[in-house]
Amino acid sequence: MRIVLVGPPGAGKGTQAAYLAKNLAIPHISTGDLFRANMSQGTPLGQQAKEYMNAGRLVPDSVTIGMAEDRMRQEDAAGGFLLDGFPRNLAQAEALDAFLKADGMALDAVLDLEVPEDEVVKRIAGRRTCRTDSSHTFHVIYSPPKQEGVCDKCGGELYQREDDSEDTVRKRLEVYHSETEPIIDHYKAQGLVVTISALGKVAEVTGRAMEAIAAQA
Ligand code: AP5
Ligand code: ZN
Repeated sequence: MRIVLVGPPGAGKGTQAAYLAKNLAIPHISTGDLFRANMSQGTPLGQQAKEYMNAGRLVPDSVTIGMAEDRMRQEDAAGGFLLDGFPRNLAQAEALDAFLKADGMALDAVLDLEVPEDEVVKRIAGRRTCRTDSSHTFHVIYSPPKQEGVCDKCGGELYQREDDSEDTVRKRLEVYHSETEPIIDHYKAQGLVVTISALGKVAEVTGRAMEAIAAQA
């Protein structure tokens, strides 16, 4: 199964992707996590991405599309994948369409997570991310780690992402509305979009998402 997750920053894409990928037995591919892994390893790609991410802007397509395609070409993604944070503008959506078509593949569903802006702000303000693996996320109130500052999953140190500052979050939301939302109409025209509310407990949202995917696929 090939699924794209869309939704504003802090909607819970990463949180849901971890459960959905497990339930559907497909890899979770997050371009944000790939950039952060490159940043922490100090690669040239990470250095290039860092200035854009910390400003809340999109990393240029010339860098992002190739990185996402390389990841989708890996062996574990041959049977399907769950994309989180990619595509993020129309040029990336068109590149993904062409990439899939060239191999006779297609998307099964685009899952749109809907959440009001005040909730997004609360979720991001309390988020703590693991330095070792940025797909490990917690929330100081909604899903606190057992030990403060320590990742339950790997023992890594928890920190607040640099792009989670108030100003950068405002910029990220702006970029979401202007550049990412248009991809929803692009995929609506292909009959692929299912929209669910991302409010409520994490497990409730996962249940809703699994039902929506099953109905669409
Ligand atoms: P990226 O890492 O993709 O960030 P994002 O899209 O802004 O999404 P977030 O990671 O902020 O939020 P999320 O929806 O995953 O929420 P989470 O599950 O953590 O991108 C970062 C940057 O990288 C971009 O700004 C850009 O610069 C660059 N980039 C990435 N991809 C790119 C691309 N394709 N092209 C160009 N540039 C790109 O949840 C948030 C918090 O809420 C957590 O604390 C969580 O515990 C909590 N939470 C989750 N669900 C619930 C719930 N149901 N109830 C209560 N709390 C909850
Ligand atoms: Zn961890």
